[in-house]
Amino acid sequence: PIRRMTVPQIRAKKGGDPIVSLTSYHAHTAAIVDKYADFILVGDSLGMVMHGMESTIGVPLDLMIMHGRAVVRGTKRALIVVDMPFGTYEESPNMAFRNAAKIMKETACGAVKLEGGARMAETIRFLTERGIPVMAHIGLTPQSSHVMGGFKTQGRDEDTWAAHIDDAVAVANAGAFALVVEGVVEPLADKITAAVDIPTIGIGASAQCDGQILVLEDMLGLNPWVPKFVKKYGDLGPAIEQAVSDYASEVKSRAFPGEDHVYR
Ligand code: KIV
Ligand code: NA
Repeated sequence: PIRRMTVPQIRAKKGGDPIVSLTSYHAHTAAIVDKYADFILVGDSLGMVMHGMESTIGVPLDLMIMHGRAVVRGTKRALIVVDMPFGTYEESPNMAFRNAAKIMKETACGAVKLEGGARMAETIRFLTERGIPVMAHIGLTPQSSHVMGGFKTQGRDEDTWAAHIDDAVAVANAGAFALVVEGVVEPLADKITAAVDIPTIGIGASAQCDGQILVLEDMLGLNPWVPKFVKKYGDLGPAIEQAVSDYASEVKSRAFPGEDHVYR
């Protein structure tokens, strides 16, 4: 049997070949991503991408578990990491453990991810010491967008760099096995990567991070609008629209179903 990528294997990639990762929320796309990614993130971005929410704030724990299960079922190689949604871990290490354990038991994923730097260090240590590997997430943390005043690139003011670097060091020292660095200016991302002994996974960060992640639907061109840091590797939106409009006309003209598509 093919064994999945493990947490220590991801951690050992610090400073080595770049870590490849993408988000996925369902079995079919996950099976494709699984051939190429070291880890797959079932991100709470699914609230916006899959369910039309305006932010990730409203994503319930059960929704993360449903999509997490689907992705675990559809894959066999990659490590599967599931996001802890807003309100399920910030209050206390006990609360975080209870909900992280529920995610791990009900999805069979290999790790969880949560947002926050120094303020989450105690919780990261609590979980890690009790058998739950934690991926941290600093910089632009979408679950705090109401406090930050929107989705704002972090570190434009050099005076703020020390606090971000302190966050990175705090989560690494607390036992996080990897660290997503989102939406920070490139030189700050490079300083963060240099400051910690765990892999940094960049999104809107720097090519010098130890790995990269993108939201799959964004890089496939399924979202009409994407931020500057997303490179579109596909243009599936127009391809899907073409297929749907061809189907609609063939239904109307009775060209579909044709001879090949009926039971005689
Ligand atoms: O929810 C998500 O997709 C994420 C990635 C963008 C890192 O947290
Ligand atoms: Na997320």
